[in-house]
This record gives sequence, structure tokens and C-alpha cells, in this order.
Amino acid sequence: MSRQYTTIKVRKEQTTAWITLDRPDKLNAINSTMLQELSEALDTTEKDANVRCAIITGEGEKAFSAGADITELHKLTQETATELSTKGQQAFTKIETLPKPVIAAINGYALGGGLELALACDFRLASDHAKLGFPEMKLGIIPGWGGTQRLAWTVGVAEAKRLIILGDNVKAEEALKMGLVDKVVPQKELEAEAEALAQRLCEFSPAALKYAKRAINSVTQSLLESGLKKETEFFAQLFSAKETKEKISSFLSQGNKKEGDL
Ligand code: COA
Repeated sequence: MSRQYTTIKVRKEQTTAWITLDRPDKLNAINSTMLQELSEALDTTEKDANVRCAIITGEGEKAFSAGADITELHKLTQETATELSTKGQQAFTKIETLPKPVIAAINGYALGGGLELALACDFRLASDHAKLGFPEMKLGIIPGWGGTQRLAWTVGVAEAKRLIILGDNVKAEEALKMGLVDKVVPQKELEAEAEALAQRLCEFSPAALKYAKRAINSVTQSLLESGLKKETEFFAQLFSAKETKEKISSFLSQGNKKEGDL
């Protein structure tokens, strides 16, 4: 765990690896470097026999992650959008297929790519002020890092359509009712709750955890794989449309949407 990262922080607490998205001034927006570093940190977590569980969270009190870095989306072509979608899907599939349980400790906004990341985790704990949603439609695009698939598998097709197509955001308590998160706790207790869940998991046999996770993942695996390919194709196609560029430019020039929009 000695590698120095620039967009994430990694620390080990006993047998748990804490991976913290670390761009708080940008609400932990996920850029290409962060995807790469996250992927490397997951490889290290997998290889470290002393680590039995991972927790992913965001730096600061405001955001888990406000999603893909919109300044990078602005420059995409259909070809580079395919690459970005594939890269994000691969990083998040690495979370899903890690042979160790991964907990998302959602400490604030989990929007777009931030929610896609959380959906790839095995357990989701949310602070009581968390807000979750998919604002992509406002930018003329769709989620491209597995969100169209994993959201539907997690909360059902009807709720997935409400969140993705209508762009409705949900507060933590509503997210709990719809099964999008497993538990809601006061912000100041989030870290301790995540740690306690990790400790509980660390008591189980690593082999049993690995096989339980693999067996349950196999329920969705083949459909998920084909769905992810379609998602990439459709996500990328939208970047050839003039309207997409206009919407993203307008979003960037007007400044981001404020609280009232969520
Ligand atoms: N990509 C890049 N930068 C982002 C970002 C994103 N997804 N989300 C937030 N930021 C940056 C802002 O540009 C701002 O940077 P600046 O201080 O250099 O101007 C900083 O993070 C703080 O965000 P700000 O908008 O000032 O905070 P807020 O409390 O007023 O609003 C949100 C919070 C989440 C409502 C708002 O940031 C937002 O709508 N973000 C975009 C969410 C989104 O569409 N995500 C999906 C992308 S596909």
C-alpha cells in the first residue's frame, strides 16, 4: 500500500483497506486518473493477504462523489467516449468481482458515476444527508459506467427508469426504502458503522466470502456483461450528437446546478 496516489488515499486499518476518493474541492468527481488509481488500489487490495475487506468513501462531508468529471466529458468523441465507458466499467467490475467484500460508505452526494461506483460495491451505507441520483439526462447522455444495468438489477426496472430517465434524485431515507442503500446512519457515525460492518465480515472465512460473492454475482453475470456492452455503445453514440455537446457546454458555462435542482 505504499504507492502514492494523487486522486485517492489508501490506508489500512487492521484487516480493512480504506480507499478514499480524494478531490474534495471537486466533490470527488471521477476523472481518468482516479479511475486508473482506483483500479490499481483494487489490485493491491486483492493481492494483500492481510486485507480481508475494503471500504470506499469520499473525502470531506459533502460528497461521496458528484460523478464523472464533466470537464473531461466535454472533450469526448464517439471513439474516446467508448474508451472512457469501457475504462470505468472495467474499474467498477473490478470492485464487483474482487474476491473480498467491498462496502460503500456514502458520505454525501452520490451522483452519476459516484452512484455507479457505489452500485458495484457489495454493501452500501449512507449518511443521513446523502443524496443519490443520475443527472446524466440533463447533459444529454446516459450513465456509461454500469449504472443502467446495476441500478435496474438493484432496485428494479421501474425505479431505474424513474431515476435515470426522469432524473429524480433521492435522499438517503428514500434510497433505503427502495433498496438502493442497506442502512442510513447519522453522518458522524458513518465511519464507525462501516468499520463495524467490515469487522463483522472479517470474521468470516475469506474463502467462503469469495465464493459467496462469486456465486451471487453469477446470477447476473451473463446478462450484465451483454448489458454493459450495449450501455457503452449507446453512451458513445450520444457523443456524436451536436445536442450533447451543447448541453455539456451550457452546463459548464452556467456553472453547476445548485442544491435547488436536486
Ligand atoms: N465534474 C467536475 N467538477 C464538478 C462536478 C463534476 N461532476 N461536480 C462538482 N464539480 C465541481 C464544481 O465545478 C465546483 O468546482 P469549482 O469550485 O472549481 O467551481 C466544485 O466541484 C463544487 O461544486 P458546486 O457546484 O460549487 O457545489 P454545489 O454545492 O453548489 O452543488 C452539486 C453541488 C452536486 C449539485 C453540483 O456540483 C452538480 O450538479 N454537480 C454535477 C453533478 C453531475 O451532473 N454529475 C454527473 C456527471 S455525468
